Amino acid sequence: MIKLLISLTLLAFVAITSAKSVPTNGINLKNVEVLDNDGKYILGWEVVGDEIIFEIEAATLGWVGFGISPTGGMTGADIIIGGVMPDGVPYFEDRFGVGQTVPKVDDHNDWTLLVAMEFALSGKTVLRFSRALNTCDDEDYPIGNDTSRLIWSMGETDVIQYHNTQRGTKSTNLLHADVPEVDLDKVTTWPMILDMEMPDQDTSYWCSFHRGPTLETKNHIVGFDAKLPSSESLRHTHHFILYNCFIPPGSNETMDEVFDDHTVDKGVTGGHCYDEMSPLPIGYCKEYVFVWSKGGKQMVFPENVGYPIGNEPGKLYYMLEIHYDNPDKLTGVQFESGVEFYYTNELREHDAGLVTLGHDVEISLTVPPNTPDFLVVGHCAPGCTEKFPADGLTVFNSLLHSHLSGRKIKTRHFRGNVELPWIDFDDHYDFDYQQNKPLMEYVKVLPGDQVTVECIYDSTWKNGEIVLGGLSTREEMCEAILWYYPKIDIDICGSEYDIDMHIKEFGVTEYHSEMTNTLNKYFIDAPPSLEGDFYNSISFKFNWTEEFKSGYADRRQNGMHVGDCHVRKDGESWYFDVAYPENYEKYVPEDKCANTN
Ligand SMILES: *[C@@H]1O[C@H](CO)[C@@H](O)[C@H](O)[C@H]1NC(C)=O
Ligand SMILES: *[C@@H]1O[C@H](CO)[C@@H](O)[C@H](O)[C@H]1NC(C)=O
Ligand SMILES: *[C@@H]1O[C@H](CO)[C@@H](O)[C@H](O)[C@H]1NC(C)=O
Repeated sequence: MIKLLISLTLLAFVAITSAKSVPTNGINLKNVEVLDNDGKYILGWEVVGDEIIFEIEAATLGWVGFGISPTGGMTGADIIIGGVMPDGVPYFEDRFGVGQTVPKVDDHNDWTLLVAMEFALSGKTVLRFSRALNTCDDEDYPIGNDTSRLIWSMGETDVIQYHNTQRGTKSTNLLHADVPEVDLDKVTTWPMILDMEMPDQDTSYWCSFHRGPTLETKNHIVGFDAKLPSSESLRHTHHFILYNCFIPPGSNETMDEVFDDHTVDKGVTGGHCYDEMSPLPIGYCKEYVFVWSKGGKQMVFPENVGYPIGNEPGKLYYMLEIHYDNPDKLTGVQFESGVEFYYTNELREHDAGLVTLGHDVEISLTVPPNTPDFLVVGHCAPGCTEKFPADGLTVFNSLLHSHLSGRKIKTRHFRGNVELPWIDFDDHYDFDYQQNKPLMEYVKVLPGDQVTVECIYDSTWKNGEIVLGGLSTREEMCEAILWYYPKIDIDICGSEYDIDMHIKEFGVTEYHSEMTNTLNKYFIDAPPSLEGDFYNSISFKFNWTEEFKSGYADRRQNGMHVGDCHVRKDGESWYFDVAYPENYEKYVPEDKCANTN
């Protein structure tokens, strides 16, 4: 192990220190986040025009490092290292990550040190500095509206060396819309918590039933929050979906008769969601109310919008579908997972709804082996949006969802053959950081528009095996879940490449499928050279030549899909042929650096 010592360049003399006062979380910027697990490294930031100001409060008298990284690693990261020497002289440098070593000094300095202070008594260093959002320097990361993967580090002394440092990474959205605050005194909080031992399987979808409030009139839900109180629940709760429960019109049973005996309130923990034999009333709970995914934070609605509940008097029931992720198949791990919502009878102007767009969770989503950037597309067809109200839907919040192989997601919007600005995108998708993200500008989707979700996957980590569409975190999904108003019944608008065509393109002549307790599973019967389980045969027996791969990708990306438009609540469906609009005019975001290079 080589300990690298490097000389320190002095870039700025700003505020020189003395240990007069001891700040505790004295960061006075709009956003503050703790980056480590112990509260020793606190970051504040605020965007002012085209500039972003950062302030770090770190529990060290040594050097402090901070960076923004394309992937969460050191390579390609835009990094600063700063601190205050024992003699009170500050130092601060713009650096560029070149691998697992001390980052090299950037050729061109784009960061400006504003304040450097050290507090001997509390053992803290405070650095305040700024940078242009987009410096147009190849060695600086342009800060955009998508996920920023922050990296942090700190040393015990002012000698900068790579080893023996405390460091970590954390994703956040540095640029985001203002999230309204929820005044908890003016709303009622309704928690729904499941406390049970996680199943000892790799992937479980577990459904539990919960009583909702009893309401005589319509109310609005105005916010949601996940309740994951322990490190176990944070680690193993991959995502959850809260569903509305209804009984079909004309049923001779009441809601209470159907659901109450199955609720957590009655001591029933629930069962596997996709179990055909389940005695639980799972089939009555299909409409999404809230989706939370790993890393997600509290969601608060805009002030004029609420999710309607209690349209009919009586007690409400909800089903919570929790995806437990237990790759080590641990046994005996018990913890609480759940959700709470805030509701009020002070009705707001608009009723909000939730719609899921993207590629269906099916095997025609197959990512070829050893591919770092495979594109999957799912279209919401004009034929489906034709059913939207004449004024269209106003989208105010977006959650992009894929699993471990997902690298980028983009929600594209077409009107006729003109592409409009993307509804949302993430070029630095982080599976551990999925947010219900308020949009900076609300988007109107009009009848006849098309919305296409594009996902880019990396399958190289599977060492020659394919990645299949599916429910496990090691399988894939390509979804954009949009919150909008006014609420309509349609809540799925997606597409898939035809499954029969998909399978036969591998040269398969006979196959069959079996219902499992999750999705259909496919088996190849002929030719004998490919016989067996679809995943294994296509991973190990099929020869993925480069030529096959390019035709394969092109047909799925540019070819015709089966578009589907569904109402989850009652199963009503429509199908359409859909592909990209013909000869469309592509949307190109403004290049702020076009004239500077
Ligand atoms: C972020 O999104 C807003 C709204 O769409 C846009 O005006 C702004 O230019 C974007 N900022 C960057 C840095 O891309
Ligand atoms: C409702 O009707 C079904 C037959 O359709 C019957 O088996 C069941 O007992 C009835 N339930 C009640 C509560 O009347
Ligand atoms: C796969 O196909 C390529 C090109 O036709 C061929 O060179 C290679 O030997 C084949 N590999 C296997 C394992 O059959």
